[in-house]
Amino acid sequence: MANLSVVGLQWGDEGKGKIVDYLAGAYDAVARFNGGSNAGHTVVIGNEKHTFHLVPSGVLKGKELLIGAGVAVDPQVLAEELSLLPDEARKKLLVDGRCSLVTPVDREFDVRVEEARGSSAIGTTRRGIGPAYAMRALRLSPRVSDLLAGFDFDPLARFYRELSLDVAGLGAWADESRKLLEGLTGDVAQRVTEVTESGGRVLFEASQGTLLDLLHGSYPFVTSTHTTSSYIPAALGIPPDLAGSPLGVMKCYSTRVGAGPFPSEIDGPRAEGLRSLGKEYGATTGRPRRVGWLDLVSLRYAVALNGVKEVAVTKLDVLAGVKDVKVCTAYRLQGSETTDFQRAAGRLGEVEPVLDSPFSLEGSSFEGGLPPGAKKFVEFVEERLGVRVRIVSHGEERSKTIEL
Ligand code: IMP
Ligand code: MG
Repeated sequence: MANLSVVGLQWGDEGKGKIVDYLAGAYDAVARFNGGSNAGHTVVIGNEKHTFHLVPSGVLKGKELLIGAGVAVDPQVLAEELSLLPDEARKKLLVDGRCSLVTPVDREFDVRVEEARGSSAIGTTRRGIGPAYAMRALRLSPRVSDLLAGFDFDPLARFYRELSLDVAGLGAWADESRKLLEGLTGDVAQRVTEVTESGGRVLFEASQGTLLDLLHGSYPFVTSTHTTSSYIPAALGIPPDLAGSPLGVMKCYSTRVGAGPFPSEIDGPRAEGLRSLGKEYGATTGRPRRVGWLDLVSLRYAVALNGVKEVAVTKLDVLAGVKDVKVCTAYRLQGSETTDFQRAAGRLGEVEPVLDSPFSLEGSSFEGGLPPGAKKFVEFVEERLGVRVRIVSHGEERSKTIEL
């Protein structure tokens, strides 16, 4: 029995939160390693819907909760999230001292950078995550441990002021944040090692998706951190063999929030139908998500990048309500067809999708297990992506999950 990571193979919102919650029972700890409160992970139990931005999705299974060094921590969001959870959750939480902090100024900074981009705006979540990592790279911002040790904010404040950002609240914010983080901070890398060496298991939970990776995604329309399995050991500060194997999560169609190329995107009434059936509205920003067909070209790229051999397929119930479902099998670019995502990378905005209809789930019911249309979908995905489908999710509720 080993550690496992759950990574997104598309543009985020694949259903990682639900899959992490489902699998967490077999693990001792759930660890976040990337991103920040730009993430929105939704877990549904019965009629109750829970959305987490920073706290790992293992919280509802009562697991140990780890926030690793690669995460950008916004103490105000963390405090808000903890205030809605039972005291037990706080006792189970450990935040790594090396985490970058998101200041309230970074949120305003995020908005200002977007304004500067004008018509090329990325459509960020405006949570200040990009500026927080940028301030880290400039070595101006405090890490959690620096804040606790007593940090000289003068250089950072001077730099913010140069940009005409309002720093008035920074002192009070630092005091509040110190109070919150004092009892929560420790060495997550060491904890992961301890749990694993004593025979326990850790589940690593990625935020965002592979195609939003800062290095390997659809730059510049990406997030400001890394989202792939290979980042896990670097981000947590653990040896690579402790990161375990990756389980990829993919939705049976595609969505994207914010701007940027989206080869298999659809619009008009078909898109509206899919969006409302799939409840595709951002968990963090409430924005309607852009929707499109399953894109095998980008998925093959994501599978290769992550070294994924097993996947969880989510939202198959949604396709039961859709007529004439399509799949993008190749890209048409400047008169020729390609199945190589990287070859199309610089011109992703220009590609036309080559579409096929290899299966239909119309009218399918999951009451008696996997219906024939879904079986066909599973076989298709396994064949085309060279992976094994391990889990099928057919509804947001925890129980609507089939292990194959
Ligand atoms: P940022 O991460 O807030 O800087 O936003 C950069 C891009 O990543 C924007 O297109 C966002 O919509 C997208 N993004 C960030 N976090 C998520 C997420 O959790 N799900 C889906 N898209 C995300
Ligand atoms: Mg989300």
